[in-house]
Amino acid sequence: MILLTGIGELATMAGDAPIGDDGYWEETGLIDDAAVLVDGAMIVAAGPRGKVEAEAAERGACEVIDCGGRAVVPGFVDPHTHPVFGGTREHEFVMRLKGRPYTEIAAAGGGILSTVSSSRAASEAELAACLRERADRFLQLGTTTVEAKSGYGLETETELRMLRVLDEVDRAHDLDLIPTFLGAHEVPAEWRHDRRGYLDLVVTEMLPAVQAQGIAQYCDVFCEKGVFEIEESRQVLVAGAEAGLGLRVHADEIYPLGGAELCAELGAATADHLVQISDAGIEALAESGTVAVLLPATSLLLRLERDAPARRLIAAGARVALATDFNPGTSWCQSLPLVIGLAAARLGMTPYEGLRAATRVAADSLGATEPAGGGECFGRIQAGARADLVVLDVPNHRHLAYQLRESPIAKVIKRGRVVQERSSC
Ligand code: NIG
Ligand code: FE
Repeated sequence: MILLTGIGELATMAGDAPIGDDGYWEETGLIDDAAVLVDGAMIVAAGPRGKVEAEAAERGACEVIDCGGRAVVPGFVDPHTHPVFGGTREHEFVMRLKGRPYTEIAAAGGGILSTVSSSRAASEAELAACLRERADRFLQLGTTTVEAKSGYGLETETELRMLRVLDEVDRAHDLDLIPTFLGAHEVPAEWRHDRRGYLDLVVTEMLPAVQAQGIAQYCDVFCEKGVFEIEESRQVLVAGAEAGLGLRVHADEIYPLGGAELCAELGAATADHLVQISDAGIEALAESGTVAVLLPATSLLLRLERDAPARRLIAAGARVALATDFNPGTSWCQSLPLVIGLAAARLGMTPYEGLRAATRVAADSLGATEPAGGGECFGRIQAGARADLVVLDVPNHRHLAYQLRESPIAKVIKRGRVVQERSSC
């Protein structure tokens, strides 16, 4: 048993956070001078220090961690990443800085397809070694659960291999990885003359093989002008749902295609990016259970002229999550604390909204449930939740965005074990 005490501010993210009169999420579930009691991989008590310490005393001996007045937050949950790939694309980054748009580089065979070539050339062991290093980094940055997509294979065998690599690293590593099949990330070079044929391959060969392999939990599509149009995306998503997969969608990033509306119609778990979402799309998400996943590091690094309309989404009542979109093309960023800072600076989200979006809402989008709700409870700090916790090196959560930093992390606890510790804290 572990007792974490001397917590300056405990940001539980338990319970609801309704919209306040000022139009921002109400800051519910913050407790000053708090403690958390952990038994094995689970939290058994969380709340005011006196109360939790009394419970610890009743239950008998335990290891005590004094947080010295620092803040404790849930382990971060990253609901959109592409961490399995070979090679890097820094040359394209420079091309973009010199004025070549992302879409033009992609149409000329660069972009996603260049990572497809280097990933196809990598062995399973090489891909796993790269992923392990990235998993170490996520954990160092306080991220304890990551949604992770395939999508740099674009042929059945390589897509299956990427999902296997995700499964293998998930089993051996402290980080939890939740796999998503993204065979419809782009049309590969060998199918450029026959887009229809590639879509058929995704639907009639890849998806059944992915289903038979039994690793992927979600199906994703890059729904974008010149990549997969709305009706093409719908076809893949309907087949993905029929194969028993949840749906997450790259939607309305560069051109407004109506991707958000499609997500709401199909009951997708998430609609992601949404820089160009329409008013109707905002309404559709607000009325559906689909979570809006915003990726401010991507719009910053792509130097897009606008950002996703976080304030309008929140005002409409949509549930908003934040993710890094970690990938080799548009966002080499693994830090959710940094993304929370960008969400404040670029999207006008408060530190509380940012933290909630990168923990609780992100976890809900990945199927987290209330304690005893039939699934795993994570992304929040309360009795019955998984003991995934981060001790920050600052006294309250507001510093997360106030200090634009990659890693304000003192300690990371995953399933009740200290897995990262900064020596000075
Ligand atoms: O989310 N938009 C599609 N997928 C990634 C980019 C992948 C890449 O460029 O390699 C994204 O930004
Ligand atoms: Fe992405």
